[in-house]
Amino acid sequence: MNFHILTLFPEMVMGGLNTSITGRAIDKGLISVEAINIRDYSHDKHRHVDDYPYGGGAGMVMQPGPVYEAYEALCEKTGKRPRVIYLTPQGRVFNQKIAEELSGEEDLVFLCGHYEGIDERVLELIVTDYLSIGDYVLTGGELPAMVMIDCISRLVPGVLNNDVSAEFESFHDNLLEYPQYTRPENFRGLSVPEVLLSGHHKNIDTWRRQKSIERTLERRPDLLRTAVLDKKEKKYLESLLEEKGLSL
Ligand code: ADE
Repeated sequence: MNFHILTLFPEMVMGGLNTSITGRAIDKGLISVEAINIRDYSHDKHRHVDDYPYGGGAGMVMQPGPVYEAYEALCEKTGKRPRVIYLTPQGRVFNQKIAEELSGEEDLVFLCGHYEGIDERVLELIVTDYLSIGDYVLTGGELPAMVMIDCISRLVPGVLNNDVSAEFESFHDNLLEYPQYTRPENFRGLSVPEVLLSGHHKNIDTWRRQKSIERTLERRPDLLRTAVLDKKEKKYLESLLEEKGLSL
């Protein structure tokens, strides 16, 4: 899978993504990440890429030309016209389902804005998806692009050491992940739950599913309305709700 990032700060995104699991995935050739400096497509003698907004107002707006040319050069080089994601707090809020859908693409372009945004006309011409990482405003699209690339990369086969782990974690079946423990068996008076030491795999699976349900009820009850539960698990949830005098 190939990620192309249109940005004014290539070193910011490459520094982050060349590290840890995404860095290893790049080294192994499972993903590629390329940062394209929008400033390289400025025709201004001072390499300016922004100007004052028509109609007045605070701040500067990124001009359409450099962004458009950067995208067209990428299309020419790759021979494709990949989807373009514009990072903006005005977009749909990114989640695991969107990540799964995007992981099916061969190439993705992330367009990072700065200042007061980008001239609307180039957005109209090239952007296919408007995505946000939450209802707060950042100084630019680089961190959101890195968040999304990190999340999508770990769905690419081979990126995680353990292929099953992406399936059994938070948000699978719309449940949060169960608690995890490692050595030592006793830590400051707190011991590892007995069932995990039993070697009884079926009991361990049941316990983990129950903990997932409990934890989701405690921390993200909104998810439970669309959680995928079998008959016994539904009963378990009902008993928890009754015990706590709650309803969904
Ligand atoms: N750019 C600035 N804030 C953002 C956000 N919350 N999500 C995506 N892009 C952004």
